[in-house]
Amino acid sequence: MKREIITTGDGSKTIQITDWNEQYHSKHGAIQEAYHVFIRHGLDLFDNTAVDILEIGLGTGLNAFITLLEAGNGKYKVTYCGAEAYPVAWEEASQLEYVTALMVPNKENDFKQLHEAPWEIPTEITPFFTLTKKKMDFNDIEAQEMFNLIYFDAFGARVQPELWTVTIFRKMYCALKSEGYLVTYAAKGSVRRAMQEVGFIVERLPGPPGKREMLRGKKPL
Ligand SMILES: C[S@@+](CC[C@H](N)C(=O)[O-])C[C@H]1O[C@@H](n2cnc3c(N)ncnc32)[C@H](O)[C@@H]1O
Repeated sequence: MKREIITTGDGSKTIQITDWNEQYHSKHGAIQEAYHVFIRHGLDLFDNTAVDILEIGLGTGLNAFITLLEAGNGKYKVTYCGAEAYPVAWEEASQLEYVTALMVPNKENDFKQLHEAPWEIPTEITPFFTLTKKKMDFNDIEAQEMFNLIYFDAFGARVQPELWTVTIFRKMYCALKSEGYLVTYAAKGSVRRAMQEVGFIVERLPGPPGKREMLRGKKPL
């Protein structure tokens, strides 16, 4: 499918899949959305602890990279599993210029390492951020009670409705430890109901600029 790099509302870039008119991040602001949904309403729930994260759709590595930045010098100790069936090549990811946009020139090498890390092997990118990239289809996720937090960042239900179903959310629920959270930019009623059906306690939260709401599910104790 044809792809191009576009500039979003906050000046940061993302990839657009032209045939689907679908982007890897919000057109209103890629970096802004990533911080709002996954950090503010996800990672920030955790207080100076070891956090095991599963990302549904590693994509450009932006969510992984901002999580690495948040872990900093020990605010968190993150183990991060990024599931992705169709990896973004470094040649494309580097054109997004996230290191510049985030104003972290000294982290250029960390962003590159996220992309160049081998698949399937846990790789320590920093002492506080260990990444395992898993080249797999989301439908094949069979993890049981392994994660504290899931970043659910699949393409939208308009283009991939099969990824926003009870079947997939049941896998997510099983993959979470009790009292774990799943955050997503989506806000559709059908998504909320699918999450509730598998057992999540679902909150509607204010969305990032350009989007009224987003969803967060908690797996009860
Ligand atoms: C919205 S993008 C993820 C953006 C990413 N979180 C980032 O920060 O760049 C969705 C991702 O899901 C991947 N994907 C789509 N269908 C998939 C499937 N069935 N299994 C695994 N990955 C899939 C796509 O290749 C894409 O990278």
